[in-house]
Amino acid sequence: MRKRIILITGASGEIGMALIYSLLKRGVQNLVTLDIRPLDEEFIGKATHIQGDICDKALLERLVSEYEVEAIYHLAALLSTRAEFSPETAHRVNVEGTLGLLQLAAEQSEWRGSPVLFIFPSSVAAYGMPTLKIKESFPQVREWEWNYPRTMYGSNKLYCEMLGVYFSDYYRQLAAERPVMLDFRSVRFPGLISAFSMPSGGTSDYGPEMLHAAAKNEPYACFVREDTRIPFMAMPDAINALLKLAGARREDLTRRVYNVTSYSLSAGEFRQWVLKYFPKAQITFQPDHKRQGIVDSWPADMNDHDARRDWGWSPEYDLERSFSDYLIPNIRKRYQG
Ligand code: SER
Repeated sequence: MRKRIILITGASGEIGMALIYSLLKRGVQNLVTLDIRPLDEEFIGKATHIQGDICDKALLERLVSEYEVEAIYHLAALLSTRAEFSPETAHRVNVEGTLGLLQLAAEQSEWRGSPVLFIFPSSVAAYGMPTLKIKESFPQVREWEWNYPRTMYGSNKLYCEMLGVYFSDYYRQLAAERPVMLDFRSVRFPGLISAFSMPSGGTSDYGPEMLHAAAKNEPYACFVREDTRIPFMAMPDAINALLKLAGARREDLTRRVYNVTSYSLSAGEFRQWVLKYFPKAQITFQPDHKRQGIVDSWPADMNDHDARRDWGWSPEYDLERSFSDYLIPNIRKRYQG
């Protein structure tokens, strides 16, 4: 008998570490983690870690020969800024990597006779507002609006959402007997802010970077204009969203891809919040027009009504609470002992 496991890819990334922490806290013991990097020391001995590339077919084959995969949290990806420097690599990791895991989940679903749960974080980057004027006119986008991403990362996310829907609902649709199919569920996240880790390679990174720099007493030059507005969310809510969607009853879900968000904040407002707690913070604005272009193409906010209606999504950390109860106390502890 193969051991039943929950697989987490991208386990050493920001969302991965926060998710492992939450799952372990809930008493989940059958975690197998996969990442190109080693697992954070904190989790060693608490999860079985495989260090390797998600595109390595032999590695995935070995994995299923040893384990029965019940659920996959597929978090591995190259984020939006990094992906622009190596678009082909990003496509390989973000798209081919996801395709390989969807195939693995499809085979496992058929073999087990019950759907493998496939949880996929998508992103605000799946949107593309053509101009700032249109961005202003559509402040809260719905899932099906303005799906014209301008980045490799956003295009990869949007396409992988579609692949997930395909593998869940239409895979082998012309075969005489339809196989048992996987159960793909996805959330489109806004920019995420963690107190415990720093993002790397994203374009919403100016928010968390500003805050962490202030706590370290370092000056920070923000790479977007003060009036740049996108949605954000504190990391604990992102993890809640993933776990809540994973636990929802299939019959309650009317979509496979849901917007989730918490608050919409301009870079200037972000700076004000940081200054409230770190009055000496030295934050200036030195827009990089290329990265600015990417953030300008993201909507100012997302409408997450469907997630609220279907599976009771609601963020626990609004703007005030994110800073006062989660970010500031934990960041202070981290840098100031
Ligand atoms: N935070 C991501 C990025 O900046 C967006 O999902 O790439």
